[in-house]
Amino acid sequence: MTDAVGPSGSVALIGAGNMGLALLEGWASQNLIGTVSVVEPQPSQRLQNLCAERGYELNGAAAPRDAVVLAVKPQALESGAGAAAPFIGPATVVVSILAGKRIADIAAQMPAPAIVRAMPNTPAAIGRGVTGAFSSPATNAAQRGLADALLRAVGAVEWIDDESLIDAVTAVSGSGPAYVFYFAECLAAAGAEAGLPAALAARLARATVEGAGELMRRQPETSPDELRRRVTSPGGTTAAALKVLDAPDGLAALMRRAVAAAKRRAGELSG
Ligand SMILES: NC(=O)c1ccc[n+]([C@@H]2O[C@H](COP(=O)([O-])OP(=O)(O)OC[C@H]3O[C@@H](n4cnc5c(N)ncnc54)[C@H](OP(=O)(O)O)[C@@H]3O)[C@@H](O)[C@H]2O)c1
Repeated sequence: MTDAVGPSGSVALIGAGNMGLALLEGWASQNLIGTVSVVEPQPSQRLQNLCAERGYELNGAAAPRDAVVLAVKPQALESGAGAAAPFIGPATVVVSILAGKRIADIAAQMPAPAIVRAMPNTPAAIGRGVTGAFSSPATNAAQRGLADALLRAVGAVEWIDDESLIDAVTAVSGSGPAYVFYFAECLAAAGAEAGLPAALAARLARATVEGAGELMRRQPETSPDELRRRVTSPGGTTAAALKVLDAPDGLAALMRRAVAAAKRRAGELSG
């Protein structure tokens, strides 16, 4: 843990929309940082209330901070960097969550050598996200520790040591929640085709995905593969279904193609 985490720490958040607000709520719930400044042109009521309750400065005066977290849309990088500049000093670490914006893109816009590029995902909104993160070579251990704590406030953090892997992280965990929602939709549709009323099939599918996810969460030492084996009796109903999913053109092949397509697209978007 670094000195910058705790009452003496200071952070500026640039952009408090969906993801920025989720981060802010994570920091607030953990009392992580003493001084928090927020820049947001159209503050929602929820943001205004949180800032008022916690004494966070909203669109106020700027001074160099330990960290600047950039959470504007990728197309707003330039204006976001302009808003961030007055909060950046020689020791500031910039944490960018902008999809598709490389360390080099961020560095070209701001006077900060210490930059962390992070890719969170939407369950961050309930503190259950997972973030892939990469730090520029100029980022020191304390700066990386601060970035880690800021990102960890909304879920797990996985550090990678090759920036190009961010595209694959995006394809697995960044876009991943949508794959799981789609799985629930497909399971519900198949249930309706198997004769269930559509609403009942949807409830069964949804509760199954929720419950299976929670079961996995509560057994962190047990692999998904082992959990699957435990509920698959030889010759039983689950085995019959898994034989279909396991076919050469089955789920594994589909996931490979889906992740490859997302990774390719992430590469195209970051130019
Ligand atoms: N949502 C996700 O699942 C997810 C996952 C990984 C990464 N990300 C990244 O997270 C970033 C934010 O996404 P989001 O969904 O939270 O977007 P969002 O809801 O649109 O939030 C961005 C906020 O930044 C504000 N903003 C724009 N220009 C600004 C400036 N110059 N200074 C200060 N604030 C400014 C925007 O205000 P206006 O609306 O007035 O423009 C908006 O409130 C994106 O770069 C995205 O790639 C998102």
